[in-house]
Amino acid sequence: MQILKALLFIFPLVWVTSAVTYHRTDQIIDAAFNTAFDYQAIVDPRLATDESYINQTTATSRNITFASSDTFILHITPISPMGRDSVRMRSRKTFTSHVAIFDVRHMPVGCGTWPAIWEVKEASWPNTGEVDLVEGVHGQAPNQAALHTSAGCTMPSSTSGMTGTWKETNCNTGSGCNIAFADPRSFSASFSNNGGGIFAFERTDQFMKVWLFARGSSILPEVLNRAATIKTDNWKPRAAYFPNTSCNIASKFAAHNIIINLTLCGDWAGNVYPSSCPSTCTNHVNTNPAAFKDAFWDFKAVNLYAP
Ligand SMILES: *[C@@H]1O[C@H](CO)[C@@H](O)[C@H](O)[C@H]1NC(C)=O
Ligand SMILES: *[C@@H]1O[C@H](CO)[C@@H](O)[C@H](O)[C@H]1NC(C)=O
Ligand SMILES: *[C@@H]1O[C@H](CO)[C@@H](O)[C@H](O)[C@H]1NC(C)=O
Ligand SMILES: *[C@@H]1O[C@H](CO)[C@@H](O)[C@H](O)[C@H]1NC(C)=O
Repeated sequence: MQILKALLFIFPLVWVTSAVTYHRTDQIIDAAFNTAFDYQAIVDPRLATDESYINQTTATSRNITFASSDTFILHITPISPMGRDSVRMRSRKTFTSHVAIFDVRHMPVGCGTWPAIWEVKEASWPNTGEVDLVEGVHGQAPNQAALHTSAGCTMPSSTSGMTGTWKETNCNTGSGCNIAFADPRSFSASFSNNGGGIFAFERTDQFMKVWLFARGSSILPEVLNRAATIKTDNWKPRAAYFPNTSCNIASKFAAHNIIINLTLCGDWAGNVYPSSCPSTCTNHVNTNPAAFKDAFWDFKAVNLYAP
């Protein structure tokens, strides 16, 4: 006991930062997606004129979203005379310190697609911060995780503590501070052809961390089974690590909603359209319905934890 006390005295920070036990607050599976999230039938905020977001009644009746057993699928409309309809889902709850585990079987693949799983408080963006956990365009792997903030939040150029690499370390830029994942199975076809995987995210006032556990890799049982209580200390490998060293996370990030969206074209996928893709983004969306058959999300579950 005395030795333990002495150790606690010498290493109080180690104790404080490594002993957090998280408790499961939400298990979102099957039709629970339809009550945990609101469908935002809004004009696309990112100027994507090639799709519009529809409400839950319309999405369900047209089978744009589909819930059954451990499957929640979010498609876009396969054929539409002008553009396509999609869904943008925003969690009803908001989160500060938390862990989120996204077990995903398939993510949207293909030219013109811009899927994302992210967390944000939109009303006063960027002053309240944005965290992009899964994002990319045109099916180009690997995944990139990013933070967007107001001025005065930067990241160290060191990559210690993660397998990813920095693409940008200033979080107040167009791309945000962002990290390219080392594993190509983190995005699009290489992710989906492997049966998907589990993305996990931890946010505290000291750091943000993102993991990818590819399907078939050795995954800790508490992650795989989304246990009722978890500790993240032994989770490896860590794909992305955003420390608070020169960024005051508590003041740069407010309580966030989780958003799952599938944009087509828009101000990233539309403006940065590769020559390897057919035609223009808009024309491709409007005239090649068959090319979008794999533009869907398939979630096994989303589980949320509070400290
Ligand atoms: C959903 O959208 C459809 C099509 O725009 C509209 O007719 C319907 O009233 C909406 N339903 C709800 C509940 O908002
Ligand atoms: C709705 O979508 C699901 C998932 O893609 C599919 O399995 C099902 O057959 C579709 N239902 C109809 C009526 O098209
Ligand atoms: C989709 O998600 C990404 C996440 O980073 C975001 O930048 C983009 O604005 C979103 N698009 C829409 C239309 O919500
Ligand atoms: C980062 O977190 C540590 C530990 O909580 C704290 O002492 C420090 O002030 C934080 N740094 C910034 C820039 O907020």
